[in-house]
Amino acid sequence: MASPQNNTLEKIVSLAKRRGFVFQSSEIYGGLNGCWDYGPLGVEMLNNLKQSWWKSMTFRENIEGVDASILMHPKVWEASGHLEKFADPMVDCKECKARFRVDTIEDEMCGNKAYQGRKAIKCQQENNFTEPRTFNLMFKTFVGPIEDTPATVYLRPETAQGIFTNFLNIQSSSRQKVPFGIAQIGKAFRNEINTKNFLFRTREFEQMEMQFFVKPSDDDKWFDYWKEERLNWFVKLGMDPKKLQWHKHEKLAHYAKVAYDIEFEFPFGWGEIEGIHNRTDFDLSKHEEFSGKSLKYFDDSTKEKYTPFVIETSAGASRIFMAFLCASYNEELAPTADGKEDKRVVLNLHPTLAPIKVAVLPLVNRDGMDEKAKNISAGLQKNYKTFYDDSGAVGRRYRRQDEIGTPFCVTVDSDTMKDGTVTIRDRDTMKQIRISAEKIGSYLFDAGL
Ligand code: GAP
Repeated sequence: MASPQNNTLEKIVSLAKRRGFVFQSSEIYGGLNGCWDYGPLGVEMLNNLKQSWWKSMTFRENIEGVDASILMHPKVWEASGHLEKFADPMVDCKECKARFRVDTIEDEMCGNKAYQGRKAIKCQQENNFTEPRTFNLMFKTFVGPIEDTPATVYLRPETAQGIFTNFLNIQSSSRQKVPFGIAQIGKAFRNEINTKNFLFRTREFEQMEMQFFVKPSDDDKWFDYWKEERLNWFVKLGMDPKKLQWHKHEKLAHYAKVAYDIEFEFPFGWGEIEGIHNRTDFDLSKHEEFSGKSLKYFDDSTKEKYTPFVIETSAGASRIFMAFLCASYNEELAPTADGKEDKRVVLNLHPTLAPIKVAVLPLVNRDGMDEKAKNISAGLQKNYKTFYDDSGAVGRRYRRQDEIGTPFCVTVDSDTMKDGTVTIRDRDTMKQIRISAEKIGSYLFDAGL
C-alpha cells in the first residue's frame, strides 16, 4: 500500500509531468531508467536555482568560475582514485535478476518498488544471491574511431576534477591569493546500480560544486565557515530549517578528512542534498604525482610554498530542485469566487525560484482589456518571465498559476480601462491590491524580483 508520504511524491511527480516541469527521458520509447528531461517550466526553475547558487558563490571577491569539459584525460581518474575506488560491491538475485548494492541492500529492498516483490524478499531470506562483485560507477566511452583501451575516456562522475586540474591556470590568470575558491556547475554521470525516487538518484545529473583552497592550518576554520554559508543559502531561498539537518559521515570517501551532509526531509525520508568535505591536499597532491607538474602554491607574503587544502561544497542541482518542489508543494482549502471553498494545490516557491514570475490576465476578452493586458505583459517581459492567460474563469486561471508557483497575478478589468489601475494578487495570501499599471515593475522589484 502506498504510504501518505509516497502518495505525496506521486502527486508531485504527476504535477511535474502534467504542468511541464519534468518528463521521463525518451518517454515515447518507454523511457530510459535514471534519466529525466526538464520541460518548459522545469528548465526555468532549474536555471533560477543554478543562477541563485552561482550568484551566491561567485559574486564575491575570492571565488572564480570555470566551465570545464565533461571528457577529461583518463589519467585524471587514475589520480583521483575513481578508477580504483569509485565502485560498489553488488550482488544479483539469482532468481529475479535484481541487482543490489551490498551495503544498502535493506534500504534498496524497501525503497525501490521495482524490487519490492515477494520474490526478491524470498531470495534474500534464502540467501539466493550471487557472490559480491565490484561495479565501477563511471560510464566509459571512446575518443576517435577505434574502440580500444588507449582510446577509453570516462564521463565525469563529479565536476570537481575539472577544478583541480585548472587550479594553477585559474590562480595565475585571475591573480587570486589563497584562500580563494573555484566554482562550477555542470553535468555529472554515474552508472548507479539502482536509480530511485524520481530525481533523487539518477544516472545523469547536474552538480554545483565549489572547491575552496586554503592554507592547511586554516582548514577547520574554513570548513565551519562553508558549513554555515551553505545551510543559510537553503534557508534564504525559503526552505523551512526544520526540514534540514546535518549528518556527519562516519564512513569517509577515499579523499576526505571530515564530511558532513545537508539532508532534506523528502516524502520518503531524510536524504542527502549537499556534501561539505575537507578533501585535504589529496587531489592536488595526486594530480602533481600523476602529471609530474607542480601544483604547489607560493605565498608571496610569507615566502612559503605549500599544497593547499581544499574545502569542498558539493551540491546536486537536480536533487535540490526536487527538494524545493517537495518543500513547496501544498494542498489546502481555499475560498472560491462564489463564496464556497475548494481544494487549492499551490507551490509556495520562493519568487527567485518560481518559473513564471507574473501572470497577466484580462478579466474578459473584450472592451480592450485583452489588448491592454497583452501590452502590459509585453512590457514586463523585458525583465521577467511572464505568462498571458485569457481562457476560462479568472478564479480557475489563478488556481492554474498557484499550481506552478507563480507569485503574482496581474488582472486587467473595466477599472483599468477607466483609470489605468490593475489588481495584483499575491499567491500565498491570495489578497489583491490595486495599483497603477505603471507601477507593476517597481512593485515586483520591491518584492525582490
Ligand atoms: N565531488 C564530491 C561529490 O561528488 P557526492 O556526495 O558523491 O560528492 C554530491 O555528490 C552531490 O551530488 C550529492 O549531495 C547529491 O546532491 C548529488 N548526487 C550525487 N549522486 C547523485 C545521483 N546519482 N543523482 C542525483 N544527484 C546526485
